[in-house]
Amino acid sequence: MNDLTGKTVIITGGARGLGAEAARLAVAAGANVVITDVLEEDGLATAAELGERARFARHDVTSEEDWQRVVDHAVAEFGAVHGLVNNAGISTGTLLADESVAYFRKVLDVNLTGVFIGMKTVVPAMRAAGGGSIVNISSAAGLMGLALTAGYGASKWGVRGLSKIGAVELGTERIRVNSVHPGMTYTPMTAAVGIQQGEGNYPNTPMARVGEAPEIATAVVYLLSDDASYVTGAELAVDGGWTTGPTVKYVMGQ
Ligand SMILES: NC(=O)c1ccc[n+]([C@@H]2O[C@H](COP(=O)([O-])OP(=O)(O)OC[C@H]3O[C@@H](n4cnc5c(N)ncnc54)[C@H](O)[C@@H]3O)[C@@H](O)[C@H]2O)c1
Repeated sequence: MNDLTGKTVIITGGARGLGAEAARLAVAAGANVVITDVLEEDGLATAAELGERARFARHDVTSEEDWQRVVDHAVAEFGAVHGLVNNAGISTGTLLADESVAYFRKVLDVNLTGVFIGMKTVVPAMRAAGGGSIVNISSAAGLMGLALTAGYGASKWGVRGLSKIGAVELGTERIRVNSVHPGMTYTPMTAAVGIQQGEGNYPNTPMARVGEAPEIATAVVYLLSDDASYVTGAELAVDGGWTTGPTVKYVMGQ
């Protein structure tokens, strides 16, 4: 199940957090991976940990030139590209009325335009490979209105829409495009704002806890694999039920 043997996958933002975990599970499933990031030291360390089927490339996802270099590098190193995980992202934590226009634009540039450039750049290589799978990491914030996420939420709603457009345009070319919507998950991004692991630590969600990186990465590997051969244009929430709606844990009238 979820076998990636012989497939080459580019994973952006792969130096740490969800991207690094997706790279770990992809290599364990048999893939070659090219992890990319602006964090060079962490990226090199993660690639070294993953062994001979992993490479690191310094890459700013907002740069068209960087993107072409990364795709060319993956083809040169491993012969083809079969998968792309658009995972790199930055977050926000400011009320809409207080958000600066400059930061709003920056978040859209990294989280949405970066995904667009990645999809656009990888398509010729996937066509040459006879098909492929693009997994775009959106968020629970791309499925609901979440406070303090003006730029972030808008970018993640955009990623969700862009994924569906890609799915429609590329389906007959055997290139599948899906979005994954993690709920609050313990990574360096969320640890930095005080999120803690453990049962009961996230009470306003059905499972009352935050997610762990392997729980998200498993879904990514599934979508990359041929087990998901008929899955495209889907939005896979991996969020402990957070986006089901308000958590009401009692029966009316009792
Ligand atoms: N952790 C969560 O709770 C959560 C929830 C929903 C969605 N997500 C999404 O999952 C993805 C990974 O998040 P994470 O929690 O692992 O965060 P993280 O901060 O640990 O990792 C994100 C990585 O992206 C890299 N990055 C940032 N800007 C970049 C750029 N311009 N070019 C290349 N790389 C860049 C960072 O250096 C970092 O290594 C993000 O897209 C995030 O929005 C995370």
